[in-house]
Amino acid sequence: MVEMDKIVSLCKRRGFIFQSSEIYGGTGSCWDYGPLGVELKNNVKRAWWRDCVQNRGDMVGLDASILMHPRVWKASGHLDHFTDPMVDCKACKGRFRADKLEDARCPQKPSKQPGQHDACDLTEARMFNLMFKTFMGPVEDDAAVAYLRPETAQGIFVNFENVQQSMRLKLPFGIAQIGKSFRNEITPGNFTFRTREFEQMEIEFFVMPGTDEDWHQRWLDERFAWYSKYGIRKENLRLREHEKDELAHYAKRTADIEYLFPMGWSELEGIANRTDFDLKQHAQFSGKTLEYFDEESKQKVVPFVIEPSAGADRGALAFLVDAYGEDEVKGEKRVVLNFHPELAPIKIAVLPLLKKNPRIVETAHKLCADLRKRWHSVYDDTASIGRLYRRQDEVGTPFCVTVDVQTVGDDKSAADDRVTIRDRDNMQQIRVPLASLATVMEKLMDGEWAEIHRQHGVTRG
Ligand code: GAP
Repeated sequence: MVEMDKIVSLCKRRGFIFQSSEIYGGTGSCWDYGPLGVELKNNVKRAWWRDCVQNRGDMVGLDASILMHPRVWKASGHLDHFTDPMVDCKACKGRFRADKLEDARCPQKPSKQPGQHDACDLTEARMFNLMFKTFMGPVEDDAAVAYLRPETAQGIFVNFENVQQSMRLKLPFGIAQIGKSFRNEITPGNFTFRTREFEQMEIEFFVMPGTDEDWHQRWLDERFAWYSKYGIRKENLRLREHEKDELAHYAKRTADIEYLFPMGWSELEGIANRTDFDLKQHAQFSGKTLEYFDEESKQKVVPFVIEPSAGADRGALAFLVDAYGEDEVKGEKRVVLNFHPELAPIKIAVLPLLKKNPRIVETAHKLCADLRKRWHSVYDDTASIGRLYRRQDEVGTPFCVTVDVQTVGDDKSAADDRVTIRDRDNMQQIRVPLASLATVMEKLMDGEWAEIHRQHGVTRG
């Protein structure tokens, strides 16, 4: 398993993720996605949205606001229960999660955990609410207090009736949302794994009471399979059932999909059976009935809710870690990210073999412009071909296309109007007519290298 330091360093070097406000010394636990990082994260979110919303007949989307009525957080239980136990060290002024001291390091003696160094002076644990507080409008008094949402889920619950009625939805149906959430984590860390500002991809799936356990299992299976579909190795994924004493206040059963991150098995996505807790709470606190009329039984019911709740940042990090590989090519180390083509930030790099030949350069530019209409493609002629390949391997570009003298012809030979496609993973090359490049690429992106390879043969390995 790759160490996290290697991932952090690759992410900075190649424009995936930077420390926030780095020129000011950085902001703790906040990260900025650079040009390739934003492509990767957008691709993760796009794949999730397409598979969970657009390709299903029983799901619709929503984009609710981050700031909500403060009563929402009373009803949801976050004001009373969304807390972690915290201890302070009077000696070093450090703050730690009392229930995770074994994961923390004493700032004065990093080989020990807080409380183990002679100088440590820990306070009693006290509960700390993780919600960020702010004020709506110019007056900073109690009446103006607002919170940055700690989960996107509540925006869905309070819109249950709006969405169900406007879209005339029948149970079972889901509402999906992608958006930022904020938690004032006591000990953020492990790069983008635990941060104070992050993006969630959440589904609230409303079902008839009594069918909830069955639907919970269906969602567990579906979400588990999703990560493998986009390339995560099965041996790096596992399901972990929550013990009764760790269940959230709203949950009847929860299971986490865990990924083997560099720091060990950790949560990637939680899938909870939230019962009818949230709709009933909001009905009670708002005074509005939040019920569903079941045509079949002619009865009003409060639906049960299954919630697959994933993190876009954690997902992107897991895809990055899992894609990371090192091998040796011609005696040199090669770093490669073998992203699924759907997730790769750049899909195709067009590389001219001779940048001093104007016909090669012109053809390569035109080709890149054509490919760009369909796939995110880049043109690069700033190094030797070997170095250009290594650069693209390191950012996970699945295919490179080279234009050479044979493509455009010279005094001695006529143009063959063919280009070479090089595969990132097996480093094999095939030569295909320019006219069929788009069709071939379409198939390659679908993973049909073997078939294309059979048709066109390998030119170089
Ligand atoms: N609505 C349910 C809910 O929010 P959660 O298990 O607290 O459940 C769901 O969060 C997902 O959100 C997690 O599995 C994780 O992927 C992501 N997540 C939660 N806290 C995070 C943090 N501090 N930093 C990054 N991602 C986080």
